[in-house]
Amino acid sequence: MSQIIDTNNLPKHIAITMDGNGRWAESKGKLRIFGHKNGVKAVRETVESAAKIGIEFLTLYAFSTENWDRPVSEINALMALLVSAINKETKTLMKNNIKLCTIGATDNLPSKARNELLEAVAKTKGNTRMTLILALSYSGRWEILNATKKIIADCINPNTITEQTFQQYLTTKNVPDPALLIRTSGEYRISNFLLWQIAYSELYFTDTLWPDFKKEDLEKAILDYQSRERRFG
Ligand code: IPE
Ligand code: IPE
Ligand code: MG
Repeated sequence: MSQIIDTNNLPKHIAITMDGNGRWAESKGKLRIFGHKNGVKAVRETVESAAKIGIEFLTLYAFSTENWDRPVSEINALMALLVSAINKETKTLMKNNIKLCTIGATDNLPSKARNELLEAVAKTKGNTRMTLILALSYSGRWEILNATKKIIADCINPNTITEQTFQQYLTTKNVPDPALLIRTSGEYRISNFLLWQIAYSELYFTDTLWPDFKKEDLEKAILDYQSRERRFG
């Protein structure tokens, strides 16, 4: 890397839509699940690199509400992969002092995956170096609708509701909005990710397919972010 990352101007929170696993596998004449398996390797490398760089929050879009419409065989394979990855990686999270959280309708996940996640979340609760947030069975509209329902159930006086109030009802309530949103695989869309939170995020798109995403790709995205002027209106 010829340029050096300015550690005084890091995006506090990076969100990533990890897209392109299927196409990566298909381009090699393999089944889509082979792409997802290699996607897990890219997750490992990205999490470690982000923590090393000094990123405080990393949110990874792993499974969307709409992804439930995929073939059952692919869903099952993804869930099995989730279980084995969490199982294997919790030790590394502990070693690297990384706290794991989830956002999304995780109650909809198969009980094995849910339990594995709950255990890892509990185990890593006290870690302080970086917070890793996995978006699972997540969508921005689901989240906004849920927040609205909870506000109504709490009988909050409409005249007192501010953006701050609303923010407190989102799944990301104690997390700063992403400064940088990365999407891989050359798709230029949001796909229902963090709709409220990305109001002023810097967007970064790369053609790299997720299983090929490396430390250098993350650094490139951060350098690009650091070349931008954020104006917030
Ligand atoms: C992203 O890769 C992973 C998930 C959505 C679970 P895809 O499975 O969407 O791969 P492409 O976009 O079809 O290549
Ligand atoms: C977005 O990717 C969701 C995740 C990466 C988990 P998709 O592959 O599901 O998005 P679309 O269908 O291309 O918009
Ligand atoms: Mg995709």
